[in-house]
Amino acid sequence: MALRLGDIAPDFTQESTAGPINFHEWAGDSWVILFSHPKDFTPVCTTELGEVSRLKPEFDKRNTKAIGLSVDPIEDHHKWVSDIEETQGYGLNFPLLADSDRKVSDLYDMVHPNANDTLTVRSVFIIDPNKKIRLTLTYPASTGRNFAEILRVLDSLQLTDGYKVATPVNWQQGNDCIIVPSVSNEEARTLFPEGWKELKPYLRLVKQPKSS
Ligand code: BEZ
Repeated sequence: MALRLGDIAPDFTQESTAGPINFHEWAGDSWVILFSHPKDFTPVCTTELGEVSRLKPEFDKRNTKAIGLSVDPIEDHHKWVSDIEETQGYGLNFPLLADSDRKVSDLYDMVHPNANDTLTVRSVFIIDPNKKIRLTLTYPASTGRNFAEILRVLDSLQLTDGYKVATPVNWQQGNDCIIVPSVSNEEARTLFPEGWKELKPYLRLVKQPKSS
């Protein structure tokens, strides 16, 4: 059955460019971005791996580890890594799982046979420090992902876990937030003493609480 939000991310042990990885142990107390690639030595994937390497300081700031996957063998991964550095200007600085036996791809339902029998689609999972799946995304092979959006969702999840707010459409760090509907105006007066702007009783905008 497909994995759903709130499910515990399945644990596994698999080979990677950083050696064998036991997933839950490797994740530790961090947030995790687990994402799959259709194949090694493919152009879109090459750009994505360069971009995630470039963004490492942003992931570090958010206590987040990245881990990629493709179904090719580890020897291919090692050869591909030098192409990524040469063409993207960033060497791979996170593990890439070598899932040639499809152990992880099957666990996470990353092969969609009606799209392609053997290659993984571009799946993304955001997993929190309790190992709960907090976001799933599936992109087609021909579309490179927008990792700025993944960072934006991480920011939203980390903010809304700490405060009784949600983030509106196209929200970015520093923008106003929405007081969640389960908070009464009476409780809101305590939580947000500086007040809020009520557009409708269910649509109350408040300054973004300070994220830690
Ligand atoms: C790519 O990563 O460039 C790619 C992979 C599979 C199909 C199309 C593009």
